[in-house]
Amino acid sequence: MNALELNSIYKSYGSQQALNNISLSVPSGSRTVIVGPSGSGKTTLLRMIAGFEFPDAGKLSLNGQTLVDDTHEVPAHQRLIGYVPQDGALFPHMTVAANIGFGLAYSGVKKQERIAELMDSVALESHMASRWPHELSGGQQQRVALARALAQQPRLMLLDEPFSALDTGLRAAMRKLVARLLADAGVTTILVTHDQSEALSFADQLAVMRQGRLVQSGHPLDLYRYPEDEQTALFLGDAVVMPARIEAGWAHCDLGRIPVNNHRNNASAQIMLRPEQLQLVSTVPGPAGPPGCRAVVTERDFSGNTCTLTVELQSLASSEQPGRSLMVRSSGMYAPPAGSEVNVSTIGHAHVLSDA
Ligand SMILES: Nc1ncnc2c1ncn2[C@@H]1O[C@H](COP(=O)(O)OP(=O)(O)O)[C@@H](O)[C@H]1O
Ligand SMILES: [Mg+2]
Repeated sequence: MNALELNSIYKSYGSQQALNNISLSVPSGSRTVIVGPSGSGKTTLLRMIAGFEFPDAGKLSLNGQTLVDDTHEVPAHQRLIGYVPQDGALFPHMTVAANIGFGLAYSGVKKQERIAELMDSVALESHMASRWPHELSGGQQQRVALARALAQQPRLMLLDEPFSALDTGLRAAMRKLVARLLADAGVTTILVTHDQSEALSFADQLAVMRQGRLVQSGHPLDLYRYPEDEQTALFLGDAVVMPARIEAGWAHCDLGRIPVNNHRNNASAQIMLRPEQLQLVSTVPGPAGPPGCRAVVTERDFSGNTCTLTVELQSLASSEQPGRSLMVRSSGMYAPPAGSEVNVSTIGHAHVLSDA
């Protein structure tokens, strides 16, 4: 069942169109991530779901209840939607306990117990209860903001770039903690980020936004493998894109013949492979590998567990053009050094991109 339904939502600020015909279904209990570059409309969309902005046109409903349409609007405080804004927005003049307890219906001992329970659920130690927001690290502030939002037992949780202020190691740990916490609580969640690896890791539904439009949505792995166009492909990771002629399920390109996932006959098109779909084998002196697949490593960028290589395909005898340069991802320790002669082979299907 879908919890949240967005139907053809539009929003402009003067001549700036912030949201342009957004439709999206958010399945109940899912973790949906909206990813897009800065300025693409992500915060505007979250604020609209929370009830702090209103659309110029369109409809929004939650669990079958209409929140906004042409005729009426449910105000933010009646929506039972938790919202953690980008900066956490803790009340600076309240302690951690008071922040979390703000808006809790209980009082006295019951309230203290509930606050302790919520602090425990976001892995905040009990001695932090009396601290002030400015005495907390970025990660701790985020957890207080999350606990405060969870205290309301929301039907839907909205998180705006919750991990962006944290450094890399803490970020991954917080991401796992929050994902587990929300899954245990069974709260449908929408998280917004401009970070593609965060998006791919957190989401079970991913929606890509660009310039106020929702360009593609689906399972993260499907979007990574089958992006609609080159821009989406490159936004979600590194990509090798090259022209090809498509015929009967095969792409004929500078790498020879590669199977494609989507059929189009006799059409010229751009195809995409992820760098990890290319494999290098050192050539032994002697007979050449299959035509079009011999290459030389021109650059090696070692970064520990992986290595990003640039290889230049050997130009065909018939061509004056230099060979095409490709990006290849290889295991860090065993990557061939610059200057090595290699054969390039591919794994899996190439994806045919739609025309831009
Ligand atoms: N209150 C506002 N007044 C005017 N323009 C706004 C307002 N809020 C957002 N915008 C504009 O709408 C666009 C989308 O902004 P936003 O939703 O904050 O993007 P994101 O969160 O993806 O970075 C931007 O061009 C931004 O400048
Ligand atoms: Mg934003």
